Amino acid sequence: MSKIRMTTPLVEMDGDEMTRILWQKIKDILILPHVELKTEYYDLGLKNREATKDKVTVEGAEAIKKYGVGVKCATITPNAQRVTEYNLSTMWKSPNGTIRSMLDGTVFRAPILAKGIKVLIPSWTKPITIARHAYGDVYSGVEAYVEGPGKAEFVLPDGTRKTIFDFKSAGIIQTMHNTDASIRSFARSCMNYALDVKKDLWFSTKDTISKIYDHRFKDIFREIYETEYKEKFEKAGIEYFYTLIDDAVARVVKSSGGMIWACKNYDGDVMSDMVATAFGSLAMMTSVLVSPDGKYEYEAAHGTVTRHYYKYLNGEETSTNSMATIFAWTGALRKRAQLDGLKDLEDFADRLEKASIDTIESGVMTKDLVGIFDGKATAVNSEDFLKAIAERL
Ligand SMILES: NC(=O)c1ccc[n+]([C@@H]2O[C@H](COP(=O)([O-])OP(=O)(O)OC[C@H]3O[C@@H](n4cnc5c(N)ncnc54)[C@H](O)[C@@H]3O)[C@@H](O)[C@H]2O)c1
Repeated sequence: MSKIRMTTPLVEMDGDEMTRILWQKIKDILILPHVELKTEYYDLGLKNREATKDKVTVEGAEAIKKYGVGVKCATITPNAQRVTEYNLSTMWKSPNGTIRSMLDGTVFRAPILAKGIKVLIPSWTKPITIARHAYGDVYSGVEAYVEGPGKAEFVLPDGTRKTIFDFKSAGIIQTMHNTDASIRSFARSCMNYALDVKKDLWFSTKDTISKIYDHRFKDIFREIYETEYKEKFEKAGIEYFYTLIDDAVARVVKSSGGMIWACKNYDGDVMSDMVATAFGSLAMMTSVLVSPDGKYEYEAAHGTVTRHYYKYLNGEETSTNSMATIFAWTGALRKRAQLDGLKDLEDFADRLEKASIDTIESGVMTKDLVGIFDGKATAVNSEDFLKAIAERL
């Protein structure tokens, strides 16, 4: 049987620990037998980031800018313990942070649904995608503890002073910022992605309380929608819907799912964990970074599964869930196929996703899912799970 051909390289970013082991197995067992894989390979494993002084991360991100589509394995974000473990010359920055800032992208996280995997909110029959604005707000806030009485102010670039609070006794202050440019990029990324996957876009802030800050988000989204996207959305039969964050929470909980929910930075941080937990497992969450000019980087939402890696190094059997990493590959291959007009590659991505979900639905799965599966479940090891998918494929 001849293999499916590709025309443009996919940017492949390898990573660390257990997910690096799975990465190679996914390619060997599920992809390479069917696809003449054409990738431009960047090794973002921590050893190579150290060897290249982290240049490889920047080169990988540049390659995504050039080709448009990348797939990334989970990587270690070094902390003090990793600096010792890997004998690092410095505590390299998070690769995801570097790539995100270079692409100016928004991260969309969506769960993979399989019948039998218990969803804690039974009405959620369709996946909910969270789009988190990954810039500013409290994540780059400036805080202070005020010890005694006195007036705290902030000063604007034009010299205007505003009173934050006239303290009578000790207290705390937090200031934060965002930029029109970043909010615009966020809005465009969300609207492009909604058109891409043909799903309604919801956006929520607390503009009734935050009449300048949150209101600015609301106004920018509205302006960009009206001037650039309204017609496209109507043509695609999808809707842009704005509401207050508290109303959005109530509506989402009562909904059947299926929407993209754009959230400010903190709301997205909180809501993505709520959604991931309610849908079952972190190991079943996919993640895609989309830039406002339509560049895509696909990955799993989880980390490198360190605990399993140490077992693997000890020669012990592991049962690590590869679903989100498989879906990172299928997402990237499908996008590449759509951009290059390769119908057989697009079909392959669909078939691989179906074979993966069918395998779980038939009762064959990794250990993490057994406890949340409604039915007779057989736990298999990391490799046997991939082989079971390959058989169906
Ligand atoms: N996107 C990324 O590259 C990314 C994201 C998060 C963490 N990390 C890195 O991953 C490393 C480990 O971090 P962590 O332990 O906080 O996160 P993790 O996602 O690796 O693990 C968190 C928990 O979920 C379980 N889990 C996660 N994925 C699983 C899977 N596929 N199958 C079975 N169980 C799974 C783990 O066993 C663990 O109990 C750290 O070095 C961190 O920097 C990377």
